[in-house]
Amino acid sequence: MAQRVVLAYSGGLDTSIAVRWLRENWDCEVVCCAVDVGQITAGEHEAIHARANAAGAVAVEIIDARDEFADRFLSKALQANSLYEGKYPLVSALSRPVIVEHLVDSARRHGADAVGHGCTGKGNDQVRFEVSTRILNPDLEVLAPTREWGLTRADCVELAAKWDIPIEATAEKIYSIDENMWGRAIECGVLENPWSGAPEDPYTLTRSSKDAPSEPTEIVLGFEQGIPVSVDGKAMTLRSIIESLGERVGSYGFGRVDMVENRRVGIKSREVYECPSSLALILAHQDLEGICLERDVAREKQRVEIRIAEMIYDGMWHAPLMSALQAFVADTQRHVNGEVRLRLEPGRCFAVGRRSPTGLYDHNLATYGNDDNFRHEDSAGFVRLWGLSAQTWSRRQGPGAK
Ligand code: ARG
Repeated sequence: MAQRVVLAYSGGLDTSIAVRWLRENWDCEVVCCAVDVGQITAGEHEAIHARANAAGAVAVEIIDARDEFADRFLSKALQANSLYEGKYPLVSALSRPVIVEHLVDSARRHGADAVGHGCTGKGNDQVRFEVSTRILNPDLEVLAPTREWGLTRADCVELAAKWDIPIEATAEKIYSIDENMWGRAIECGVLENPWSGAPEDPYTLTRSSKDAPSEPTEIVLGFEQGIPVSVDGKAMTLRSIIESLGERVGSYGFGRVDMVENRRVGIKSREVYECPSSLALILAHQDLEGICLERDVAREKQRVEIRIAEMIYDGMWHAPLMSALQAFVADTQRHVNGEVRLRLEPGRCFAVGRRSPTGLYDHNLATYGNDDNFRHEDSAGFVRLWGLSAQTWSRRQGPGAK
């Protein structure tokens, strides 16, 4: 059994109980490591330290990974227009690999022989934590106390009181929520009935479209090599673009996703997400690619995108196929430069204009006006040969056969 474990610490009830539980039951020293990917507010740092210390951690650290998360993970997901099953921008799935990188690094610094997480046995996150850990350091053990301890939420609330861990938790929690700068994932409660419409109360990043401003507005997003670099002509870091865009887009009631998805462990699960900035950025990026990518590259990329989204979802961020597919995507992004004009209306966000200094749109080829220089005479023979095989079939065997 491990002697010292670095625990992925959220500061919530389960991971706080896990600190003391690991010491008492598995005789393990616990280092609490909270990795900030946009879910921790400045005011929460003190409470996180206080709880981890009260629970008996031998060390506590809060690591600010916000810029790194944006620059090394979200940028690549965006270049690949990553949407799992065509809808979910992989909010939780993308955060796990950066969190694990820090856990593994922390284990090295603290001389730990294991990392730990607070995921249940039914979800995807256990897969992501464990697969990434074993790829990054095959010698580390992975501990998953919540998967084995058999405690209910009420038991945990009781233990927190008994062990003097300062935590405001109630025995009943309506939703399970995971969030970071790419969006929020909401599960449980009434949402477990896939026929029930999601109530308004769990949403914090998006307004209902009926409360959106009635005046439409426009946002101009600038991209270089497929990565957002400016908003309305003002250069900004990727992280600040993601953060500021979320508020603007969310206020118009755009960014909600309601779906039943396929978990890696074989369960169909009803999930509700709110992802205003990630969905707006993907939409803009896809639109810019429409003008910048050569046709065959664009078509092949769509196939690769589906695979990348599945790999991210299934915990394979650090697997060798992932870096090979990302190399393909990076190559496609070399000329994805330019601007996209997004329009916001209540409940809607859509592209109304795009321009690119490296784009492939050729006005003289496209126009029906006077400066048309398309070679019309080339078309007749091209079209005849294009359909020749099917025409031959039709004469002999098909609908044209007598
Ligand atoms: N279903 C999402 C995923 O697997 C979100 C998981 C975490 N969600 C939660 N509400 N705790 O990526």
